[in-house]
Amino acid sequence: MRQKIVAGNWKMNKNLAETKALISDLKAEENTSGARVIITPSFVNLALAVSETEGTAIEVAAQNMSQYNAGAYTGEVSAAMLKSAGVNVVILGHSERRAYYGETDSLLAEKVDKALAEGMEVIFCFGEELEERKADKHYDVVASQISNALYHLGEDAFKNIILAYEPVWAIGTGETATAEQAQEMHFFIRKTLADKYSAALAESVSILYGGSCKPSNAEEIFSKEDVDGGLIGGASLKAADFFGVVNANK
Ligand code: PGA
Repeated sequence: MRQKIVAGNWKMNKNLAETKALISDLKAEENTSGARVIITPSFVNLALAVSETEGTAIEVAAQNMSQYNAGAYTGEVSAAMLKSAGVNVVILGHSERRAYYGETDSLLAEKVDKALAEGMEVIFCFGEELEERKADKHYDVVASQISNALYHLGEDAFKNIILAYEPVWAIGTGETATAEQAQEMHFFIRKTLADKYSAALAESVSILYGGSCKPSNAEEIFSKEDVDGGLIGGASLKAADFFGVVNANK
């Protein structure tokens, strides 16, 4: 079901003590928007984060996951491990995973399948690079990223998929897409979903925007019809900033 969601992508930040401190600060903030709030500490701190957020409305997600069940995959973390730690949501396809760790659409399709098979919810990220936008290819790029990794799924699977449009040129750069650029792309994504599946499915999927989203620009971006929330990097690392964004998602 289409929901208001704000997820913090902590990336490779916060050690154990810092994770505990940030969660304590987050718990002191008030959620006045009613948006779903998700945080994503690093793998090593997930179990701690789950116990520290117990009894609160803050959900804990992972930033990545293996496509395999178990076995000789040094350094990898499985869906079953995440679930056993109390984590039921995973980010897949972040542009940093694609760019620095060679994650391809077909690998991501496998990871998505595995996560869904394990009953997890997926925050699926995609977005064009600056050169692609300049060449006016951003719609094609986004359409192919989505179709290559997700369009083998049946309609029913989308109840566990949250989409996150993150133009690469806006991530960590301080340069945000304008609210109009976000809306145009989110509208386009919903239309492609309607064409491929159904209008009802397109209406039911939550589409988040990510890329230099912060308290000062979040309200305008979230006010757009097809923007259901955000995936927040830098501004998720301070409780007041993160809740500034959460509470902008009215
Ligand atoms: P940013 O990161 O908010 O720091 O731009 C967003 C993301 O990478 O998910």
